[in-house]
Amino acid sequence: MTDHITAALRRLPAPRCAYVYDTAALRSRAATLRAALPAGTTLLYAVKANGHPDVIRTLADVCDGLEVASGGELSLAVQAGARRIVFGGPAKTDAELAAAVHAGALLNVESPHELRRLAALGIHADVCLRVNRATTALTGSHSMTGTPTPFGIDETQLPQVLADTPPGLRVIGFHLHAVSNNLDGPAHAAFLTDCLTWAGRTAQRHDLSLRIVNAGGGLGVDYLSDASIDPAPLSSVTVPGNVELILEPGRYLAADAGWYAAEVLDLKTTHGRTFAVLRGGTHHFRLPAAWGYSHPFTVVPIDDWPHPYPRPEVHDTEIDAVGELCTPRDVLTRGQYVPHLRAGDLLLFGRAGAYGWDISHHEFLRHDPPTFVVL
Ligand SMILES: Cc1ncc(COP(=O)(O)O)c(C=O)c1O
Repeated sequence: MTDHITAALRRLPAPRCAYVYDTAALRSRAATLRAALPAGTTLLYAVKANGHPDVIRTLADVCDGLEVASGGELSLAVQAGARRIVFGGPAKTDAELAAAVHAGALLNVESPHELRRLAALGIHADVCLRVNRATTALTGSHSMTGTPTPFGIDETQLPQVLADTPPGLRVIGFHLHAVSNNLDGPAHAAFLTDCLTWAGRTAQRHDLSLRIVNAGGGLGVDYLSDASIDPAPLSSVTVPGNVELILEPGRYLAADAGWYAAEVLDLKTTHGRTFAVLRGGTHHFRLPAAWGYSHPFTVVPIDDWPHPYPRPEVHDTEIDAVGELCTPRDVLTRGQYVPHLRAGDLLLFGRAGAYGWDISHHEFLRHDPPTFVVL
């Protein structure tokens, strides 16, 4: 399944270090998800997962629009021709708020202060309020609700915030993103139903005309296997006729459409551990270090060895895949078995299309960036 990826990598000059993004994989993943969504659902792509312009353009085309969290992402979304833009995030500047409204984006307002700032800017708009609910109804990582976080308005403060909403700003819905990387499809379906029920009841209690329930992202992929959340159970959710359910996944749409590849520059054994030292590392692909797991790789053999000196190699051994940074934390994978590995071969890391390059600390040590190949 990765022949087209390895072929593209082989065409690059050595030492090879690249991200490969496959737009066909993006389209197919979006189609799979869309087929599982209940009627009345709007599918947005969360740009934060991967802001490469070609990735954004592809997903803007096959999804209904884009979710953005900064002025930079907003500009990319506008350039990509997104039909619909939703702007969230707890730290919007006045300039970003104004630009979002100018671009026709729907704002997810994160605090009463933000509402007052919008009013002071003279902005008249329909907005959603992001709410940090009393409980999280979902497992996953990075909980943003049901726990103290800087995201959204505490549910207990919501009545006062609604009562104090400045004239000119009309609350038309709620944003309820809860967690990242949930792998349990039935649980996610139950979460969506719970969001719709809670929003309906809350709107009724406060005499709001509810139009939008945004349940955020959080559809997961398992980095240690080929598994992803099964979206099929989502089709059982009933979206009330007058309401639009918005989902804004990032990882589920982009993870499997990206590969990170890095050439083995050196192989060495110290204190009984064998290291494959890569032209690349966590400054390009920080996810495994950030999340504290070993990202699986496959070996792409490169037979060409044009050098006069011997080629380092190992057989039947466990290796640590480490990067080119001067820190022992620059580790992508620990203790993965390889039957055979040589300097000059490539390690290929799949599922690197979401939160790969975009969350990494590119400037540390000022090595060259990877090549970006878009298929
Ligand atoms: C508000 C919001 N929406 C959507 C997403 C996308 O989440 P995921 O990539 O887990 O689907 C995030 C991720 O942090 C988020 O904070």
